[in-house]
Amino acid sequence: MEETSKPKPTGPVVFDGMVVPPFPPLLQDAGKRFEEIKNMECRKDDVIVVTYPKSGTHWAWEIVTMLLKQRAEYSKEPMECFFLEAMPDFNFVHNVPSPRIFNTHIPIRWFPNQHIENGAKIVHVLRNPKDIAVSMYHHFKNVGILGDVENFQIFLEKMFMNPKAQVMDGWFKFEKDFEKAKKNDKRGAIITVHYESLKKNPVQETKRLAEYLNVELSKEEITEISDKCSFKKLKLASQTVKDNSLVANVELFKKTEPFVHRKGEIGDWKNHFTVAMNENFDAIFKEEMKNSNIQVQFE
Ligand code: A3P
Repeated sequence: MEETSKPKPTGPVVFDGMVVPPFPPLLQDAGKRFEEIKNMECRKDDVIVVTYPKSGTHWAWEIVTMLLKQRAEYSKEPMECFFLEAMPDFNFVHNVPSPRIFNTHIPIRWFPNQHIENGAKIVHVLRNPKDIAVSMYHHFKNVGILGDVENFQIFLEKMFMNPKAQVMDGWFKFEKDFEKAKKNDKRGAIITVHYESLKKNPVQETKRLAEYLNVELSKEEITEISDKCSFKKLKLASQTVKDNSLVANVELFKKTEPFVHRKGEIGDWKNHFTVAMNENFDAIFKEEMKNSNIQVQFE
């Protein structure tokens, strides 16, 4: 008998050794979507904004989009429309006008082959993992995917730091693989922006991004873009300017929206980590990062 429908997965979906976020295309057939991404037809001027989840993807995507459009104007289309692993029909990518600015949380080994061959631009945002853990906890809790995880401490131990439950390879592997890719990136295709640097020096970092994207804008224009993308303004725009009906799964989106712009601060982890949790985290961090030169800003 021909198989007509696949049984619904009961636990988290694991693909290529990683727990994948619960986006419908990944829940339905993660392998298919990862292959679609890997083999997609790319254009030389495509830009991919890549982050470990909760690193400031929406913020960076909006800045890059404004810079490439050379206008301090919010895109009406939410970032989710260009989310490689979450868009419902992957064929949509063909209809996006250039320059296409995609976003993703996939690890570098699954990046589109052609994008890498083209030496096309990759904007990588790196945020300290303590704040990411806090941000992810609030997001996941609200979406209802934490199951019996009752509090932040359990989330940290059983999910965020647990190699068997970490989303997308876990922060350590995800970022160390990017570090390796950057070492091999002789054409300067990858730029890394630290969430904390963007927060502390938004104009300077926006200017650095503009130079990397080969966009010529005046100091005033750069300042205006960085101001429009500041936390409060971007949060307001996401509720008032964006056409959220364009997002495929509107109900899920409505639940997550408040957590896309939650606090937007550096160091909220201090309100969540106990001394013991922090010491434990630091010990794991030290061991994991002993051969890495990644500079992480925890405050
Ligand atoms: P918090 O939960 O710590 O507030 P992503 O876009 O990758 O899902 O990341 C979401 C995180 O980035 C959230 O962190 C969110 O508040 C923060 N963020 C979104 N826009 C921001 C902005 N303009 N400035 C600073 N942080 C921002």
